[in-house]
Amino acid sequence: MFKIILVVIFCSSVRIACGEDSSGPQQITVDETTTDANNCECSVFNTSEPSPDHPSIMIQSVLHVECNEEGKATCAALCKALALAAHEKSPKILCAHLGDCNNFEVFLHSRICGSDWQFTGLNRGNLCCQKSEVIECNQQN
Ligand SMILES: *[C@@H]1O[C@H](CO)[C@@H](O)[C@H](O)[C@H]1NC(C)=O
Repeated sequence: MFKIILVVIFCSSVRIACGEDSSGPQQITVDETTTDANNCECSVFNTSEPSPDHPSIMIQSVLHVECNEEGKATCAALCKALALAAHEKSPKILCAHLGDCNNFEVFLHSRICGSDWQFTGLNRGNLCCQKSEVIECNQQN
């Protein structure tokens, strides 16, 4: 299991590093292998404590793990690694989902096997979007 994770992380960092100009595949490798069998999900909320029915900004199923504590830890670690690997691009991805926002803060969560969302400890603030494009926050107010 550990080897697989390392490979996935390595592949996504390579794509991030090399993929800027190429018209190659997705920036995050695991997107392509998403199936219903992937019970490890990463999501972005506008709060660190979402209620169970709180709408998420985006969700991705990224991996199949065992439904136990080890799987939970693996899933949280992978979500964090993917978010960090995509750090440069994440405002763009988020604005595409958000449309318009002003000084928005987002919080990364993970969960396995349909359980409750758990905050990974990673968040990102000062996000400003206009018509789904990233803008400088000081352009507004
Ligand atoms: C977060 O999202 C919920 C649901 O869309 C919304 O009701 C709430 O006002 C938002 N909170 C912030 C801080 O944007």
